[in-house]
Amino acid sequence: MSITILAIESSCDDTSASVIIDGIIKSNVISSQLVHAKFGGVVPEIASRAHLKSIVLIVDKALKKAKIDKNYLDAIAFTNGPGLLGSLLVGSSFCKSMAYALNVPIIAVNHLKAHALSHLIDNPKIKFPYLSLLVSGGHTQIILVEDYLNMKIIGETRDDAVGEAFDKSAKILGLDYPGGPLLDKLAKNGNPLKYTFGKTKIQNLDFSFSGIKTSFLYFINTQIKKNKNFVHENLEDIASSIQKSLVDMLMEKIIIASEKYKISEISISGGVAANSLLRTTIKNCSKELKWNFYFPKIEHCTDNAAMIANYANYMFLDNQFSSYDIIPEPRLKF
Ligand code: KG4
Ligand code: ZN
Repeated sequence: MSITILAIESSCDDTSASVIIDGIIKSNVISSQLVHAKFGGVVPEIASRAHLKSIVLIVDKALKKAKIDKNYLDAIAFTNGPGLLGSLLVGSSFCKSMAYALNVPIIAVNHLKAHALSHLIDNPKIKFPYLSLLVSGGHTQIILVEDYLNMKIIGETRDDAVGEAFDKSAKILGLDYPGGPLLDKLAKNGNPLKYTFGKTKIQNLDFSFSGIKTSFLYFINTQIKKNKNFVHENLEDIASSIQKSLVDMLMEKIIIASEKYKISEISISGGVAANSLLRTTIKNCSKELKWNFYFPKIEHCTDNAAMIANYANYMFLDNQFSSYDIIPEPRLKF
């Protein structure tokens, strides 16, 4: 018997739907909400309204692209948290109604676990256990993945997520939201060693990004007082230097985690896993430390329903279905 699942991701500002058949992704349609750019960050109420507007169209597109009729679905999956309550509610209510109408079970997926397994979409072969560095706009965690369905957080940020640190630094430089990809682009032509910034030191595997954010803000303000064109004249070097500092902070902890747990299978996931410096640094480190490393494709790094479908497929095989009265959990952990 083949297994066909429709999955929906709506935890933040991307509406996405995907179909997976027998563990193979057949479609992954994503609609990003550009409307937030002018506010410099995601506005929750606007996000849930935008999900409402696009969800029917996106699901329809995903089914058509996969060439599957809705009556052939065996289950419908959705992101149940963490995320914005209103956005999660749109996805979960839609899935529940559709599943109820089709008389199929629902699968409530943890967004973080789905990120941690997202590289398996493109490269299903991996040795367990592995360490997953999950770096996104809302999360920064090191996850010890024991097998498909069992994992635990062994380190996480105590304040801002690294994606937030990228976005806030970009905002200070006058770049649009989300600034992470723009910083990455500018950094390519800059000198990463030109400027250094103060970092908060934390002993264990946890992270803290609020210190470097403040240090960056003070640095820029001080320089602007001396030369009002400072940012304009040095934009690429500043972008390159702050990017290097943030990537170094991530690398320091993943190296310690690898030594502590004696694990050399390393994956990265989440939006910041699209960062080119992080990707090359891990590649280079892997040669030196003899790591096997795994990256999702760029389209599977930022929020997408393919990763929800991928995780839902493992849950289906393990009979992990949910009751129709499940409610979204904005602060869902593991
Ligand atoms: O996983 P994601 O799409 O959404 C959350 O679950 O948060 O991650 C979005 C984050 C944003 O902070 C964005 O700036 C960052 O990922 N990001 C990047 C890059 N591409 C996306 N940060 C640095 N370099 C990139 N190339
Ligand atoms: Zn995410």
